[in-house]
Amino acid sequence: MRSIADVRAAVAEARSRDAAIGLVPTMGALHEGHLSLIRRARADTDFVVVSLFVNPTQFAANEDLGAYPRSEERDAALAAGAGADVLFAPSVEEIYPSGFATTIHVGGVTEVLDGEHRGPAHFDGVATVVAKLFQIVAPDSAYFGQKDAQQVLVIRRLVRDLDIPVRIVACPTVREPDGLAMSSRNVYLDPDERRRATALNRALDAAQAVVTGPQTSAASVLDAARRVLADAAIDPEYLELRSPHDLAEVHSIGDGALLAVAARVGRARLIDNRIMEAQ
Ligand code: PAF
Repeated sequence: MRSIADVRAAVAEARSRDAAIGLVPTMGALHEGHLSLIRRARADTDFVVVSLFVNPTQFAANEDLGAYPRSEERDAALAAGAGADVLFAPSVEEIYPSGFATTIHVGGVTEVLDGEHRGPAHFDGVATVVAKLFQIVAPDSAYFGQKDAQQVLVIRRLVRDLDIPVRIVACPTVREPDGLAMSSRNVYLDPDERRRATALNRALDAAQAVVTGPQTSAASVLDAARRVLADAAIDPEYLELRSPHDLAEVHSIGDGALLAVAARVGRARLIDNRIMEAQ
């Protein structure tokens, strides 16, 4: 479906049958990570809408909007196979018609990590498009990947602050057999970069391995991760240990801290994260 009116009509018809509505927002180029979200929505709800929209407002001018992988026919088949009832693939004009002039800025959790390194417009673009999708579909539950841990916090804050009645479900990161987190941007990697990219997950493993308890210092965790990245000739854009609740800086593991990493490997900007458990 291309139009907001058609999606609203399909959802209204499902609601008239008392169906619970699930929404899986995506930018397409679907992989197993997205399919796990769709399968979870299928299991939890009665009517599943998958949106496919490469949202221009969340890309900075120097980013890969033009090159972002697009494969709509393949995506439609994969989404349907995983249990989508509707694929909503609007045009840019449908979402941002001429004269569109509203931006939602979520505070508190957007100033650091990707907000700092991709610029403030990134999460403004995410929050604005996700708020629009929530208005269009009015889902009972919406599904996001934990790989984008900061995005999940931004969306949780958005729905809390604006009283949007939707349950946000964060699903585990899906990984390739060698540990690389699945991402639509992995297609940018050449074979050598693809091998080096596994260092992100290995760095998170190495960091967890030095955690001996709540008192383990952030410095020792970060050093362990940094060494693995350096061995793979990866200079991270950021590698930071933060509170998993509000992204405040933390100096020790406490009762669980989020280790988040972003790095460029060739043309690909990759992110990954892990909650460090105080065993
Ligand atoms: O995670 C994504 O793919 C995007 O940021 C989202 C949530 C679909 C908004 O464009």
